[in-house]
Amino acid sequence: DKNIKKKYCDVVVIGTGVAGLFTALNIDHKYRVIIISKTELDENNSNLAQGGIAACIDDQDDFQSHYEDTIRAGAYYNREEATKILIEEAPKNIEKLLAYGTNLDRDEKGRLKATREGGHSKRRVLHAKDATGREIIRALAKEVRGRGNIDIQENVFAIDIITNQNAICGVLALDEKEQKVIYRTKAVVLATGGVGQVYKNTTNPSVTTGDGIAMAYRAGANIKDMEFIQFHPTAMYDKEYGQKFLISEAVRGEGAILRNADGEAFMKKYHKMADLAPRDIVARSIFIEKVKTGKPYVYLDITHKDAEFIKNRFPTIYKKCLEKGIDMTKEYIPVSPVQHYIMGGIYTDTNGKTNIKGLYACGECACTGVHGANRLASNSLLEGIVFGNRVVTALNDYVAKAVIRALPMLPMIKYENKYEKINLYKVKERLQDIMDEYVSIVRNEKGLKYALKEVEKMYQALLRDKISVKYYECINMCIVGMLIIKAALKRKESLGAHYRVDTEGQGCIINF
Ligand code: SIN
Repeated sequence: DKNIKKKYCDVVVIGTGVAGLFTALNIDHKYRVIIISKTELDENNSNLAQGGIAACIDDQDDFQSHYEDTIRAGAYYNREEATKILIEEAPKNIEKLLAYGTNLDRDEKGRLKATREGGHSKRRVLHAKDATGREIIRALAKEVRGRGNIDIQENVFAIDIITNQNAICGVLALDEKEQKVIYRTKAVVLATGGVGQVYKNTTNPSVTTGDGIAMAYRAGANIKDMEFIQFHPTAMYDKEYGQKFLISEAVRGEGAILRNADGEAFMKKYHKMADLAPRDIVARSIFIEKVKTGKPYVYLDITHKDAEFIKNRFPTIYKKCLEKGIDMTKEYIPVSPVQHYIMGGIYTDTNGKTNIKGLYACGECACTGVHGANRLASNSLLEGIVFGNRVVTALNDYVAKAVIRALPMLPMIKYENKYEKINLYKVKERLQDIMDEYVSIVRNEKGLKYALKEVEKMYQALLRDKISVKYYECINMCIVGMLIIKAALKRKESLGAHYRVDTEGQGCIINF
């Protein structure tokens, strides 16, 4: 279509979380980079990350220990080579992060402070109080804004990557006026983050509709491990519809304990690391305690710690709890597990390369295999910087040799005057209900099959609506939902965060 506006650059980075910004900063300065953000630059999961960023930088710690904690949490399903890279390249990338002006908490001697979180056998989680992601995004955004070769385009929605003979030649997008625009480029980096909005109860903000994974899938990229969805054990319990507020695992790292609705501390019954067991185990234990007590929540109790320490260490959480009428220095916080993260995604090698020439992915939307079947706490911001840095090794070489390829004939579907008005909010709500009910912490074949049938029906109906951002988000969410359900059906055994209760040979749910 000759009337579609065109823009030219060397690389398009889609997504402005830690992975997208870190990638953009590391691309050779001689290349023209456009970063696309669906809304505002700081509207993403990274910006909400509380607990911290894991890295082995203390004399008391060693790579082997961080590696073993990571693969134990990942149910030994992690890819060895990628996991070693994640851990061994942590220190040098933390140095880079600090050089970009990130302020992490330090002790009186100026050394970086570290806390513990679930699954870690050592204190190695670096942090900026309880708003680590916000501080990292602040520093990286400032740096990106100061770079002459990087153009940030906000409120632009990427619809599809365009390929010609299995190589990148552009990105089709809707601009802030919902008008089509094509970015003609040599390479694309997908750093679009997670899929949380596919679920009703999630810590993820409203922008996390799995767009990157869905568009990579449509373009023919390999997608892997979609059945592994992480449920964070402690989101603040809230009956209201929408995103749930996270109570960082660092609260347990500083000594908080989980109690069931009858006040009983229960985690010792389930795992030797008790409240600091890996996340999948804590989430399932809470699931059981909720069933046993008949209450939709358990409690998080940190009342035994000094009130001043709590207020100073967790100012964001303390304030949010107060807004909800809970003084966490004196009262238990009602919590429940909700969707938090996806371990699977766009399959890449250890340089973020996909099976499509010129297409790279990093951060949550990618699947390098570093998280196995269940991510270790605070390894996700780390993944963003380590692989955001590595992507550019391959990317710089590719861009040096590549040309901007010709666009193929775009298969534009003709919608004009033919669409039926569909209530997209209702579709989203129905999808979220189905995912929460049948594709959650505990799964069985009957429920998964029902879910697949229903989501497929919704997807077919959607292929008849008018073009808008909301419409494409719904399409993407349905595609991601179907990919998760199909993968969950295929994996008949339980592994990590994927828990099947119907398959032969699986023990009782309490028997982890
Ligand atoms: C948290 O602060 O509990 C979240 C950290 C993470 O998702 O790794």
